[in-house]
Amino acid sequence: MPDIQLSDFSLAYEQHGSGLPLLFIHGYPLHRFLWEPQWTDLSTAAQVIVPDLRGHGGSGPGEAPHSMEVLAKDCLDLLTALNVASPVVVCGLSMGGYIVMEMQRIDPQRIAGLILAATRSSADSPEGKANRDKSIQLAQEQGSSPIIESMLPRLLAPRNFATRPDLVNRVKQIMASISTSTIIKDLQGMKERQDLTKLLATSQKPTLIIHGADDQIVPLTEAHVLSQTIPGAHFIALPDAGHLLNLEQPDQFNLAVRQFIKSIPYEQT
Ligand code: MLT
Repeated sequence: MPDIQLSDFSLAYEQHGSGLPLLFIHGYPLHRFLWEPQWTDLSTAAQVIVPDLRGHGGSGPGEAPHSMEVLAKDCLDLLTALNVASPVVVCGLSMGGYIVMEMQRIDPQRIAGLILAATRSSADSPEGKANRDKSIQLAQEQGSSPIIESMLPRLLAPRNFATRPDLVNRVKQIMASISTSTIIKDLQGMKERQDLTKLLATSQKPTLIIHGADDQIVPLTEAHVLSQTIPGAHFIALPDAGHLLNLEQPDQFNLAVRQFIKSIPYEQT
């Protein structure tokens, strides 16, 4: 796909298939190829749209800070630029989930359903904020390598990290392509994000919460809490999966998404 010029940067994206629009938003510090196993499979069931967030992958950096609001507006602007008129199912992983919730806050009418993968609705705790500051300082002083090295083993289930070197290398390559300045802006944006728990409690949107049973970044207990917060939310915990569950168990993840989107009404506009 040719890139699309948005407010202050050019955005790279994938668009495959037709029908119900299904937007996938990657987490930190990653890019759109996180979702390759999804667009190759799910494009037979939906119109799959996958952006690189500003500064990530093939997208330009832009000037604005990476607040969740800015990143959510970028995703809404992409839908407008692609003339997507009908409400969209949005799936976000971790930081991508924070952005999905922010899209629901900013423009709920454009959202048909939420898929919240490996994420949470709460804001950072004081300790979490202090850890963000430490990571920002580390990145400023030493670049992205120490951040990547400490995060990589925790992104996958311990068994997958030990036995699937191709998967580990793939994730490492994606992370290594993200610039230090983007990492710092993401950390600042996540540190300042709002608690959207109350918003979700009243959202009334069909919601799928899907989480790796062995997630070491966002513990499974947080997903349980999220599922109890959102009325009628469907909750799935995938075994043998960590934080990057869609890469670790793509078949099970895709099956869950396929079943969920069957329940979402879609009328061709
Ligand atoms: C992510 O995976 O997107 C981030 O690790 C989430 C976070 O740090 O809160």
